[in-house]
Amino acid sequence: MSDEDRPGGMGRGLTHYGDAGFSLFLRKSFAKSMGLSDRDLARPVIGIANTASGFNNCHRTVPDLIAAVKRGVMYAGGLPVDFPTMSLGEPYLTPTSMLYRNLMAVDTEEMIRAQPMDAVVLVGGCDKTVPAQLMAAASAGLPAIVLVTGPMMTGSWRGERLGACTDCRRQWARYRAGELDEDEIDEVGGELSTTAGTCMVMGTASTMALMGEALGMMLPGGAAIPAVHADRLRLAERTGRRAVALAAERLTPDRIMTPAAFTNALRVLLACGGSTNGLVHMTAVAGRMGIRVDLAAFDRMSRETPVLVDLKPSGAHYMEDLHKAGGLATMLRELRPLLALDCLTVTGRTLGAELDAAPAPWPQEVVRPLDRPLTAEGGIAVLGGNLAPDSAIIKQAAASPALLSHEGRAVVFDSLADMAERIDDPALDVAAEDVLVLRNAGPKGAPGMPESGYIPIPRKLARSGVKDMVRISDARMSGTAFGAIVLHVCPEAAIGGPLALVRGGDRIRLDVAARRLDLLVDDRELARRRQAWSPPPPHPGAERGYLKLHLDHVEQADLGCDLDFLKPARTIGSTPV
Ligand code: FES
Repeated sequence: MSDEDRPGGMGRGLTHYGDAGFSLFLRKSFAKSMGLSDRDLARPVIGIANTASGFNNCHRTVPDLIAAVKRGVMYAGGLPVDFPTMSLGEPYLTPTSMLYRNLMAVDTEEMIRAQPMDAVVLVGGCDKTVPAQLMAAASAGLPAIVLVTGPMMTGSWRGERLGACTDCRRQWARYRAGELDEDEIDEVGGELSTTAGTCMVMGTASTMALMGEALGMMLPGGAAIPAVHADRLRLAERTGRRAVALAAERLTPDRIMTPAAFTNALRVLLACGGSTNGLVHMTAVAGRMGIRVDLAAFDRMSRETPVLVDLKPSGAHYMEDLHKAGGLATMLRELRPLLALDCLTVTGRTLGAELDAAPAPWPQEVVRPLDRPLTAEGGIAVLGGNLAPDSAIIKQAAASPALLSHEGRAVVFDSLADMAERIDDPALDVAAEDVLVLRNAGPKGAPGMPESGYIPIPRKLARSGVKDMVRISDARMSGTAFGAIVLHVCPEAAIGGPLALVRGGDRIRLDVAARRLDLLVDDRELARRRQAWSPPPPHPGAERGYLKLHLDHVEQADLGCDLDFLKPARTIGSTPV
């Protein structure tokens, strides 16, 4: 049966009772119990992935957004049907939401495929939800459109503007250094997240929203509108309308998420000083389309892509300021000579056509012009060297420039527990010029690759005024964090990567300009250490359930940390192009 002939709406994918007529009769009969009529049931069905959860403050407005999407779907003649999927609220999940990103992607993909819908609206927002939904959309192959909850508004404390979560970390560091007392840090805690929405700095949620829009999977202007702004409800309504058209046009994600579109998204990641997690997530999404992210090409692109967006943690502003400055369109206008403008978007028009149709620019200070960037190179550099043979990354835009070329003595923590136990020990042998190493914190090692790469400055150094040190790990870092922090070291220590061989007192050299991270120990000694190495003991619970599936199949960070069996067998291209 060709795609054209396949039944749509409620007739899609019938339950297998061995009698198709009965299956449809039964489905409609049960659907009528919800008050729907035959006329309703004859319409194209638009599924709406509902990620509202009491454990996800970033998605507090999802019910309002779904109501607006439904309005749009009905105005356009469709039948909106929302359905629950997993929701991942970043601070509520242990050991880390990243462990569950792939599970959410599987849940979302299977529910899109198993239920009768002609197109789907994916309502996400918090860090891992948008990547999971894009991965699901890529694999499900149904017309899909992304709607994010949008960023929070900023708060203020004693005259100082605050936002989650760069200021959470900055103020917590001040508390650790003894600059704030208990009462003051409690007051700060009440002012960091003051409205519904996602973290309003250039953390992972903001980065993924901008990348999703640049990729073409969201309506233009959709990334930066604050969660509580009425424009977001209007956008939700338009998203619902457009979903009906997407279903009619059968505009599937494979026509939108092409190697050139991923190149645009990665360009935006670099130019917005975006989260390092954006690279891992987009690698996973591209992987679902059979597209490989070429890290050497990405690093070359980084050298020619300046950081334009002046947002925390690399800059000074917040997402609501970017929205007032015109949102992503203002940024794309500057990047125009570097973009693939003929990429199709969910609007059915190209990125270039949408950019032509965007409102004319106005004076603003959030997005710099191409000839006056925040930094000349992109926010993220890809490192090689004998400590990271398959790659590591550093968010150079958010690091202390003096530490980008540095050699120091290794102070090693074997695990997160070891770090928690010793980092603030007054007897810890550590100095400001040392290099802090955390290992066994990768996709298999932690497990789930938590955001623990932002190793705290040891308390005794923090109290003497040390603000930044070179820190290296196989973990990730929150997009809201900052510092001279090398992340995603591949292969990770838990599978025998060279990070496992570092000993306290070894010399390590970081040279970001040369893109190198080296352990200054000779090869014979490293070979001896490798002989003596044994893997860490198994995690509790590793013998069953989802954790077993994850440990048996998760890939390394340079491949996106997806489960290996979820990618298509065939690679169709690479990105950036
Ligand atoms: Fe949800 Fe930051 S906690 S986006």
